[in-house]
Amino acid sequence: MTVNIKNKEDIKKMRIAGKLASQVLDYISNFVAPNITTEELDKLCHEYMVNVQETIPAPLNYAPPGHTPFPKSICTSVNNQICHGIPGEKILKKGDIVNIDITVIKDGYHGDTSRMFFVGAPSIQAKRLCEITYESMWLGIKQVKPGNFLGDIGFTIQNHAEKNGFSVVREFCGHGIGKVFHEDPQILHYGSPGKGLKLEAGMIFTIEPMINAGKKDIKILPDGWTVVTKDRSLSAQWEHTILVTEKSYEVMTLSAGTPSPF
Ligand code: MF3
Ligand code: CO
Ligand code: CO
Repeated sequence: MTVNIKNKEDIKKMRIAGKLASQVLDYISNFVAPNITTEELDKLCHEYMVNVQETIPAPLNYAPPGHTPFPKSICTSVNNQICHGIPGEKILKKGDIVNIDITVIKDGYHGDTSRMFFVGAPSIQAKRLCEITYESMWLGIKQVKPGNFLGDIGFTIQNHAEKNGFSVVREFCGHGIGKVFHEDPQILHYGSPGKGLKLEAGMIFTIEPMINAGKKDIKILPDGWTVVTKDRSLSAQWEHTILVTEKSYEVMTLSAGTPSPF
């Protein structure tokens, strides 16, 4: 495994790409409401990225080995969908929860971030799942500093989720990111303190826990992309792109609408 250490120039450009990705979420947040379809959300984001920001939507036609090209510009994962939901004719309704995951490319660099949105008022369980997942992401982020280990991040996330009666998805994880969308290292959202790779200043990776209300098991839909909970329970996810700094961390995916840290 080779982990790419970013230089000053890389970091500057990642900050820009990260902010732009987060600004797409700020923009689309105004449109998430009952009766809109996920493909309408995709179209709005696509136009905003391409025409306003002059960024490239990284998901569009993204085709890692063993996958058909992803057909849309964003991922929209609703209720029991864990991640990689393909925008389509699904009409959002009151009480739904939806993760919108944005990855833009600007000047050759990727910014990757996602948030949960409520469509109308959520159930008590849905609200709690989204909150605990948000807290889990942040507790993971706060473990980031040189000399700490990837296992410290994973353990902290897993501990918070499980303590609250939820489960952590194992098949998908955070990832190194830069000029490449998904690169080493893999950031597991479970693990043991002191285990795994030691963090060094200049690493950039995402932290993006997927937390299920029920069991951790997943299924992939016949579209080849959409990941859902096997037991049909609700799932939530939040994502930031993080730089390891000399003393701690910097969140690269910040904008005016970024929810405050937990
Ligand atoms: N943005 C997702 C991530 O956080 C990856 C989406 S790949 C796609 O890593 F092809 F499904 F869009
Ligand atoms: Co990611
Ligand atoms: Co993402």
